[in-house]
Amino acid sequence: MKRIGVVTSGGDAPGMNAAIRAVVRIAYSKDFHALGFKRGWEGLITNTSTVLTPRSVGGILQLGGTILNTSRSPQFRKRDGIEKTAETLASNNVEGLIVIGGGGSFKGALELSRETDTMIVGIPATIDNDVFGTDETIGFDTAVNTAVKEIDKIRDTAISHERVFAVEVMGRRRGFLALTVGLTVGAEIILVPEVKYAEDDIFKTLRENSAKGKKSGIIVVAEGVAHVSRLVGEIEENTGAEVRLSILGYAQRGGSPTARSRLLANLFANKAVELLSREQGNKIVGLHKGRITSIDLEKSCKTEKPLNLKLLKLANILAT
Ligand code: F6P
Repeated sequence: MKRIGVVTSGGDAPGMNAAIRAVVRIAYSKDFHALGFKRGWEGLITNTSTVLTPRSVGGILQLGGTILNTSRSPQFRKRDGIEKTAETLASNNVEGLIVIGGGGSFKGALELSRETDTMIVGIPATIDNDVFGTDETIGFDTAVNTAVKEIDKIRDTAISHERVFAVEVMGRRRGFLALTVGLTVGAEIILVPEVKYAEDDIFKTLRENSAKGKKSGIIVVAEGVAHVSRLVGEIEENTGAEVRLSILGYAQRGGSPTARSRLLANLFANKAVELLSREQGNKIVGLHKGRITSIDLEKSCKTEKPLNLKLLKLANILAT
């Protein structure tokens, strides 16, 4: 192997830059050259790249976002997008491609793998933590900590005013972030897309809490669960509680990566480059029971990562 390509794709995640830096430096230590494709798959479709060297990736370890930029490219999912990408890889003599992103990016990578000889390895990086084949993705821990810091502040004002707060966190399709955040802030109620909720249960919990002297509360709601402002109105009407809404939004995707997100970035990059150096492509790297592992890209794309519902039960017990 002489040259590897690197691309960041889909929603950005804190630690993507740490992963780029590690990929490039580890690649150079094995005498590979590295080419960074810009703006996600778009850069592969349009052949827009930049040479990455150990020096050019200096000073980015602690930065959120991605120096390569990213995008969600609808053109890539079409036939001509994939064909153009395969041409770009061939014309640049890219023998191995490292895709740093989430499940959507890996589905694209799987389609691409059927049209190219370039070996592809995925490094899971998304705040949603919804990639099968890894217990944790790069950026998840940072997003959890960002949300926890904000909700702790909201808790102060909730207690002072004896109010209930609904706090919307990211996660359009999956509730990994909402569940971990909810558990670690001691949320009274956690709503995730994987579990159907009944409004009556929410009203009941809040009425019971109020009756036992708990006049304030935090409801953590994953983005994909409900029309949250409508839900807030319903709760006010049915419980008499004063309810405020706080949407944490895109701040959760930014910021300096935590030590844990950086560590995962370094370990995943190390494994990804090692796989390519052994000519093992079409895999994603991951963390499984404390070990850095890899599984087939196809298996990762075709399997849904289960949400640990025991944690939801535990959170409910802890919130009494
Ligand atoms: O990066 C994942 C994610 O944050 C999801 O939780 C959310 O649904 C989505 O990205 C929204 O991102 P965008 O508006 O960039 O498509």
